Amino acid sequence: MPRLMERLRRRWLGPLFDRLGYDLVPATPDWAHRPVSPHEVEELLGNAAAQLAADLAAAGIPCRHDVRALVGEFWDLIPRAPVRQRRGGSGFNGALQLFVLMRALEPDHVIESGVFRGLTTWVIRQARPDARIFCRDPDLSGLQYRDPGATYCTQDWSTADWSALDPARTVAFFDDHVAQARRVVEARARGLTRLVFDDDAAGHRIHTHGGPAHPTIAMVRALHETGPARREPIRWQRNGRVFEQPADDPLVRKAARLIARAHAFDDLHGATGYSPARLTYVALHPEGGG
Ligand SMILES: C[S@@+](CC[C@H](N)C(=O)[O-])C[C@H]1O[C@@H](n2cnc3c(N)ncnc32)[C@H](O)[C@@H]1O
Repeated sequence: MPRLMERLRRRWLGPLFDRLGYDLVPATPDWAHRPVSPHEVEELLGNAAAQLAADLAAAGIPCRHDVRALVGEFWDLIPRAPVRQRRGGSGFNGALQLFVLMRALEPDHVIESGVFRGLTTWVIRQARPDARIFCRDPDLSGLQYRDPGATYCTQDWSTADWSALDPARTVAFFDDHVAQARRVVEARARGLTRLVFDDDAAGHRIHTHGGPAHPTIAMVRALHETGPARREPIRWQRNGRVFEQPADDPLVRKAARLIARAHAFDDLHGATGYSPARLTYVALHPEGGG
């Protein structure tokens, strides 16, 4: 069947879509392509591990594991991922970063907001086999992986009571196209301090993203650091539509006060050749601090 589909795509469907202005490409995940000669595999894994170790240190996250061993473990795991996606969710680099972050942060509870097909839930489960995972997404119809131990809900995470979770043992992962500054404020109101964001884009890069959720963490930092001197908004255009992030957004000021530390991980493209990841780790001031 896949062979027949591929022939149809190449001969008929592809050219037809091309004429209509669309690209019809198979949903082959990027990790289906990989080096196989030992020297090149070692180079890829070693480069990725060195970069991830540097990022963990820069983010202030202690890691009691050997990062090179974690990357090797992920390399062996990822071909068995039960989700096939090329767009709309994480690729190799984002999944690897999430795996390493979860191992380093060692949460017993993970709140995942933005599940889509379920790849990132699977990654979190591989990293933390015994963790309680709470999956939130208004649309769970596209799931390709449903974790048997996770709790699924279509309500926004901010509608639930999380007071039973110990914040020191919890990590919230946001990949939900909701304003990241809003998620910061919501997390802090629930006592959570350890957050991971996907799609954190700076103002000069956000035009390449679909469904931009702003203000992003990078915007909060940039606008706050620029201070009251900056009056002009961040503006960009996508598919003919103009978007704007006001410089004097009260949400930006509020989120900036709550963030103790934020570190955008390297996109890993240079290390692995896979499509760029966009994960940022954010530590909030604990209650009473900041
Ligand atoms: C980029 S996808 C998530 C991809 C997934 N984390 C991965 O990497 O495989 C974004 C998801 O956010 C979901 N979403 C939209 N609004 C949301 C909300 N308020 N809370 C949680 N998820 C939301 C969308 O339905 C979509 O499935």
